[in-house]
Amino acid sequence: MYQTQPKILVTGGAGFIGSHAVLALKQAGYDVIILDNLIYGHRDIVENELQVEMIIGDIRDRNLLNRLFKTHQIDAVMHFAAYAYVGESVFDPNKYYDNNVVGTLTLLDAMLRASVKKIVFSSTCAIYGVPQDLPICEDSPHNPINPYGASKLTVERILSDFHAAYELNSVCLRYFNAAGASPTGYLGEDHTPETHLIPLVLLTALGKHEFVPIFGTDYLTSDGTCIRDYIHVCDLASAHVLALEYLLQGGKIEVFNLGNGNGFSIKEIINTATAVTGHTIKTVDYARRPGDPPILVGSAEKAKRILGWHPQYPNLKEIVAHAWQWHQRRQGSSFLTKLPNPTKHYERSYAALAQQVGR
Ligand SMILES: NC(=O)c1ccc[n+]([C@@H]2O[C@H](COP(=O)([O-])OP(=O)(O)OC[C@H]3O[C@@H](n4cnc5c(N)ncnc54)[C@H](O)[C@@H]3O)[C@@H](O)[C@H]2O)c1
Repeated sequence: MYQTQPKILVTGGAGFIGSHAVLALKQAGYDVIILDNLIYGHRDIVENELQVEMIIGDIRDRNLLNRLFKTHQIDAVMHFAAYAYVGESVFDPNKYYDNNVVGTLTLLDAMLRASVKKIVFSSTCAIYGVPQDLPICEDSPHNPINPYGASKLTVERILSDFHAAYELNSVCLRYFNAAGASPTGYLGEDHTPETHLIPLVLLTALGKHEFVPIFGTDYLTSDGTCIRDYIHVCDLASAHVLALEYLLQGGKIEVFNLGNGNGFSIKEIINTATAVTGHTIKTVDYARRPGDPPILVGSAEKAKRILGWHPQYPNLKEIVAHAWQWHQRRQGSSFLTKLPNPTKHYERSYAALAQQVGR
């Protein structure tokens, strides 16, 4: 069907998950071009590790997108570009709807103008809100409790409407907590500020943070701390390649959860990280955060059944070990000696969230 290898536009390809997807696409033989405004992405990763063409620009730049689709023969799009700080979305929803919804609409408009009708979209388990049943399945109720989750659910609805009206085909991948790093040690997670648990724990082990905050130790879980589903970023990347192949082979519209199916508590993560790193990791207990469900675990049976996806790295120790290898490399040789303390970010986010939940 395709005379040369299909060319894939990856928005947000200089970010954490996007960069791993670009590597997986390259390894599968696809031709890749990245569009990233580098607000959170890393130019050095694209130039040194991925070595693919990158256009530095914004998905909301209509003229740039129209030019891009005119000058490149794009067969499909993988769309990672978005803002993803849940707490920030509560106190600045405009920023989130603008980038995540308006930005995606601008991208979809340019795709339709260029007759590009295949897109794999980064969605999230945040669209489910506080689940009533576990594990969470694709048809569990969709009740996002923050603007970030609502922005992603809005895009899912837009994609469904665009399929019906314009025959735009899409796969929405709802990830649980992306974690780990490429086993090569050359790609990994580097967010500023960092709010994700595993990197925070490892950066604390490296002495870049003083302590790991634990929000709530009185949940009805085995050790009182929240349980989450951590999925290795390379397993997310392989699912993206399968989702793309599903579309290239004529697939129409689908939605899949991508999770491990196993939950791990915060204390289990800290104990595993202590074992992997050999460092003591200081923790400080805080009150529960409003809106934090005790347990979030997803079922990815549908992705396994329909896409033939098989996670290669379900083992928590391996996920943490890969992330540790990356952080030692990245931070060990880093220009950064001290990282911004995320506690301020938390305080502002949680105050806003508390207000919202109380409304
Ligand atoms: N990390 C997770 O655990 C997780 C979980 C569920 C869903 N997601 C979704 O996955 C996607 C990638 O997440 P990530 O953790 O890799 O985030 P990231 O911040 O590392 O990557 C996002 C990339 O998009 C770029 N970007 C943002 N806005 C842009 C714009 N307007 N134009 C061009 N580029 C832009 C950033 O510079 C960055 O490189 C996001 O859509 C996020 O909502 C992430």
